[in-house]
Amino acid sequence: MHEKINRLLTELDSLTAKNAGEVEALRVGWLGKKGSITLLFEEFRQVGAEEKRQFGPQINRLKQAAVEKINALRESMESAGGHKPSFDATLPGEPAPLGARHPLSIVRSEIIDIFKTLGYTVAEGPEVEDDYHVFGALNFPPEHPARDMQDTFFVTAGDNPVLLRTHTSSVQVREMERRKPPIRIICPGRVFRNEAISARAHCIFHQVEGLYIDENVSFADMKQSILYFAREFFGAGVQIRLRPSYFPFTEPSAEVDVSCNICRGEGCNVCKHTGWLEIMGCGMVDPNVLEASGIDSKKYTGFAFGMGIERIAMLKWHVRDLRHYFENDIRFLQQFATA
Ligand code: PHE
Repeated sequence: MHEKINRLLTELDSLTAKNAGEVEALRVGWLGKKGSITLLFEEFRQVGAEEKRQFGPQINRLKQAAVEKINALRESMESAGGHKPSFDATLPGEPAPLGARHPLSIVRSEIIDIFKTLGYTVAEGPEVEDDYHVFGALNFPPEHPARDMQDTFFVTAGDNPVLLRTHTSSVQVREMERRKPPIRIICPGRVFRNEAISARAHCIFHQVEGLYIDENVSFADMKQSILYFAREFFGAGVQIRLRPSYFPFTEPSAEVDVSCNICRGEGCNVCKHTGWLEIMGCGMVDPNVLEASGIDSKKYTGFAFGMGIERIAMLKWHVRDLRHYFENDIRFLQQFATA
């Protein structure tokens, strides 16, 4: 009996199965009604008391080992994907929600693309700037209100304080300093002003400013470039008008209006019944500004313009509250998914 038990133990060790059917066959062959272990127990019942005491524990251990081995084989079949597959590759997939580009990104790229067709290239610069590049080099007098704490976010005080740029004209200054004309650049970027947040104003917004400097650049060139932009962006039928204005860095300066694309000039809420919508500021670069950056103002002239992306996007989609752009409300943003 001792030998038999040992032989079955070694046999048990080397058992393998290729599938669930084979595992079941092994169970029947070992533990079933006529299984080797069941038969061994029958034989055990016949032996004398002395042998029972000797072999009892061994037989029990053998049975235990057989049960464990067969269970282990069955588990390994199941985890290898035997009977129950863990997923069905033929099921249709779950749709992943698609994001949308932010309306401000859409408008920024549209504006850039239009000016690219006129030969402009994109220039970028730091958001944290010094007083010189935001104000000094742009002909702002020392007492100009934009230099006041009420209007600008200052990072440090002093003679040439560090501040958050209030317009991307600072990028134009940096480009004029490091390049020779002709210069034809477009400067998109985030700007900061110390404004109370409301439906029409925010302390952070985005601009696209442009600069063109070469020999013989005229006011008529500027007007034509802006008209081209307005028609590409708002549609072939729009008109523009220029109203005299003032900026320290341009002379003469103007505000540009486009004919209202909602009422086509007849008067509505959006254009406040004037038929016109203001879209940007512009002007001929002041000779002082050219000279401050080392450009000969006798030889070169240029024009500059600047617009707020939020405002242009509001006019394009009739968005009534500028705060929507910054709140990341999916219901608002989703509307631009196919825009
Ligand atoms: N820098 C001006 C602003 O921030 C916009 C502007 C740019 C006006 C160029 C005229 C010429 O409002």
